[in-house]
Amino acid sequence: MTSNTLTITDNRTGKRYEVPIEEGNVIRATKLRDIKNGPDDFGLMSYDPAFTNTASCKSKVSFIDGDQGILRYRGYPIQELAEKSTYLETAYLIVKGELPDLKHFRVWEHNVKIHTMVHENIKKFMEGFRYDAHPMGMLVSTIAALSTFYPEAAQIHDLESRRLQTRRLIGKLPTLAAFAYRHTRGLPYVYPDNELSYAGNFLAMLFKMTELTYKPDPALERALDVLFILHADHEQNCSANAMRSVGSSQVDPYSATAAAAAALYGPLHGGANEQAIRMLMEIGSVDKVPAFIRTVKEGQRRLMGFGHRIYKNYDPRAKIVKQIAYQVFEVTGRNPLIDIALELERIALQDEYFIAHKLYPNVDFYSGIIYQAMGFPMTMFPVLFAIPRTSGWMAQWAEMVRDSEQKIARPRQVYIGEPERHWTLIDKRREPTMREDQVSEVI
Ligand code: ACO
Repeated sequence: MTSNTLTITDNRTGKRYEVPIEEGNVIRATKLRDIKNGPDDFGLMSYDPAFTNTASCKSKVSFIDGDQGILRYRGYPIQELAEKSTYLETAYLIVKGELPDLKHFRVWEHNVKIHTMVHENIKKFMEGFRYDAHPMGMLVSTIAALSTFYPEAAQIHDLESRRLQTRRLIGKLPTLAAFAYRHTRGLPYVYPDNELSYAGNFLAMLFKMTELTYKPDPALERALDVLFILHADHEQNCSANAMRSVGSSQVDPYSATAAAAAALYGPLHGGANEQAIRMLMEIGSVDKVPAFIRTVKEGQRRLMGFGHRIYKNYDPRAKIVKQIAYQVFEVTGRNPLIDIALELERIALQDEYFIAHKLYPNVDFYSGIIYQAMGFPMTMFPVLFAIPRTSGWMAQWAEMVRDSEQKIARPRQVYIGEPERHWTLIDKRREPTMREDQVSEVI
């Protein structure tokens, strides 16, 4: 006889508890609270720093099978979308759940494009940043500033308001990103050209100089659009979790998106491809690769752009990015770092250390090489990530808002600090007797 339950015996009391198993492999953590040592006991809870084995939500947006190297948006394999779709169509799929027919796509495209302009005061706001401000810092702050321009966005339970803010954010992100880039270069901001595609307009706002109309190179335009598709969503990663967690306070979506973008700014998330480029530049030439691999195996270094919390197989996005690199080089010329990257990958994939640790290239291994070949400074890498991820963030946020099981996110803690003690007059206090390691703990 089998049943979809878990039986737990509490050896402190000898009591047995039956916990239902849902969705194939899920138990509700709150069920542990029933397991008490006595009537006044709080009950058990699970301790899971970094949420490595805790599902925080039920989601229909994207699916990853890390062992198989599978990524799907709303059920569609990433390879098919990268080959056949466009970013705007994929964004529709992500936020609405289905691929659009032609009529709906045209309306969606129009509705996103009419929001590419920003209020002139946004421009002034951005002009206030120092000449050398990091473009990602500018982007994070300006996304937050948008909430002051659209106070009605606070109506998060209003479907039409949610839809409008989603179109606005997807429409405006390339404009804010391009303005941030132009600012760091000391160049005048370029207004959107809605005759161009989503990616084409972005390239125009970045690189247009004195020409009357900017014609993006079709190969670069497509490459960027595919990179946008690949970065549109990735289930409950650090920034999606920030979006949901901050959004769960029922703040407006601009403020929540600013928080998500701030999470993406970190070197362990949106900044990893910069680290990969720095590593390749440091290695310098193909003949130095074996020595570098040795330092990684000795535990002195990490091979940046390799390994993933979820993927224990080739990241499917990395395979696609590698192909795009060659299409981009046809236009820009070959980025010499690709040869070092290929040699690293060749040696690593047949090395027992990398095989045993299931370390494969992730999306960041080759994406920086492409961005660099296209002329982007490294500070723009997280900005390029944030543009397409906006559709994923908005889909995750809307799912959270509509989910009746969700409440304000509020994890528990395990308190390990001082027991109760009492305040004394300052001249009666003894010299603090903290050990060195305790001092560094409290800073
Ligand atoms: N190079 C060498 N060894 C590695 C690497 C690596 N890139 N990644 C993991 N390992 C080893 C660790 O040393 C550890 O070995 P041990 O068990 O012998 O001590 C083992 O593999 C497990 O590593 P963890 O750090 O515990 O794995 P985790 O899942 O926490 O980390 C991470 C995943 C952060 C991505 C890690 O693989 C890493 O640091 N990679 C390099 C940075 C990188 O490319 N980040 C981008 C991720 S993709 C993205 O965010 C868009």
